[in-house]
Amino acid sequence: MLRFLTAGESHGKALVTILEGLPAGLAIDFEAVTRELRRRQGGYGRGRRMAIESDRAEPLSGVRHGLSTGAPIALMIPNKDWENWQRTMHVEPEQPAGATGPDRPMVTRPRPGHADLAGVVKYGHDDIRNVLERASARETAARVAIGAIARQILEQVGTEIVSHVTSIGLVSLPDALAISFEDARAIGDDAPLHCVDPRVEREMIAEIDRAREAGDTMGGSFEVIAHDVPPGLGSYAQWDRKLDGRLAQALMSIPAIKAVGIGRGPAAASLPGSRLHDEILPRHGLQGPQGPQGPQGRQPVVGVSRPTNNAGGLEGGVTNGEDLRISGYMKPIATLMKPLGSVDLTTMTESPATIERSDVCAVPAAAVVGEAMVALVLADAAMEKFGGDSVQELVDNFRAFRDRTAARFAPRQ
Ligand SMILES: Cc1cc2nc3c(=O)[nH]c(=O)nc-3n(C[C@H](O)[C@H](O)[C@H](O)COP(=O)(O)O)c2cc1C
Repeated sequence: MLRFLTAGESHGKALVTILEGLPAGLAIDFEAVTRELRRRQGGYGRGRRMAIESDRAEPLSGVRHGLSTGAPIALMIPNKDWENWQRTMHVEPEQPAGATGPDRPMVTRPRPGHADLAGVVKYGHDDIRNVLERASARETAARVAIGAIARQILEQVGTEIVSHVTSIGLVSLPDALAISFEDARAIGDDAPLHCVDPRVEREMIAEIDRAREAGDTMGGSFEVIAHDVPPGLGSYAQWDRKLDGRLAQALMSIPAIKAVGIGRGPAAASLPGSRLHDEILPRHGLQGPQGPQGPQGRQPVVGVSRPTNNAGGLEGGVTNGEDLRISGYMKPIATLMKPLGSVDLTTMTESPATIERSDVCAVPAAAVVGEAMVALVLADAAMEKFGGDSVQELVDNFRAFRDRTAARFAPRQ
C-alpha cells in the first residue's frame, strides 16, 4: 500500500511529507519533482506569494545513491517566506532572539468560505492564524512533490497523466471529453491557463481580470486524463475498493474542490442509456484505442473497441483500459480584496472579513494538484494489483498480466 502524510504551515519553516510503500530500486528523478512544483506555482491569477517561493523538495530519507531503498521517503520543502514570518510563526513559547519579520496581530475576522470559523470553533483557538496556516493550499505543494514520485512508479507500467483547464467562471470549453489525451499533453507549459483552446483561454483571462478589478475571485474546473492505464485496477467487490470512489475522495480533498465528475460526470444523469453507455465492438488489428505503446511496451490489448468514453475509463470501479478521465470543480477563492461581511470574534460585532495575501483564481494550480492526487491513487492501485517489493518485481508482474490478458482477448480475424 502506498500512503502518505504531510505536515507544515503556510508560513512556517517548511513543508514535510512522508511517502511509504514505494518499492525499492526506483531511480528517482528529483528534477522532475522540481518541474512539477514549478507547474503548481504557475497559472494566470495567482497572487504575489507564488513569486516569492521557488519550491524545491529536499530528500531526507529512503533514497540511497539515487535509488529508492523501500524505506519511507521523507521530503522537505523549505518556505522561502519564513524569514518574513519568524516573529509571527515561531515554534518556541517565547520570541527567539534574532527572529525576523513583523510580529503580526491576531486574526479575528473569519473569511466566509474559508476554514477560519469552523476551525476556531473546532479547536478552541482565539487566533484564526492557527487555522488558516494549515488549511491553506500551500500544503498541496507537498502533495505535488510526492505525486511526482508516484508518476515515476506509473511510468514503469506505461501510464502518463496530464490535465487541462475546462472552465473559469461561466467561460468553458464546449465539450471537455472531445479533448484527447494528446491534445491536453500538447499544451505548452507557458499557456497562461493551461487550456487547449487559445480563444477560450483569452475569454477566461478576461473573466479573471474582471474579477480582480472588482476585488472579487473566480473558480472553474479542470480535467485530469490518465493514458495507458492498465485495466483491472480497483474493484467492484467492496465499497472502499472502488477506484472511482477512491479517486473522487482524493480530488475532493484538494482545498476548494466542491464536486468531482468521472467521464461525462453530472451530465450522465440527464442522458438516456442509449446515448451514454460506450458500446463494445470487436476490434480488428492490433492497434487499439489505447494508442501508442508506453515505455514498457504494449498495454494489455483487450480485443474490443469502445467508440466513445463517456464512462471515463471506469466501469464498476475498475479501470477498463480506456483513458481515465476525471474532472474537479473548484469554488472561487475565499479571500476577497473587497471583503464579504463577517463578525469580529473578539467583540462579536459586524466587521468585514480579514484580507490575506491571496490568489484571484487558482484553477490551473489545482489541476496540477489534481494530477498528483490521481497519480498517488493510481500508483497505489497498481501496487495493489501487481505487488512487488522492488520495481523489477512490479514490472515483471505487470508484464505477465499484460501478456496473458492480451493473448486471452486477442481479436479473432
Ligand atoms: C492551488 C490552490 C490555491 C489556493 N489559493 C487560495 C488563496 O490564495 N486564498 C484563499 O482564500 N483560498 C485559496 N485556496 C482555497 C482554500 O485553500 C480553501 O477554500 C480553504 O482551505 C477552505 O477549504 P474548502 O474550500 O475545501 O472548504 C486555494 C486552493 C488551491 C487548490
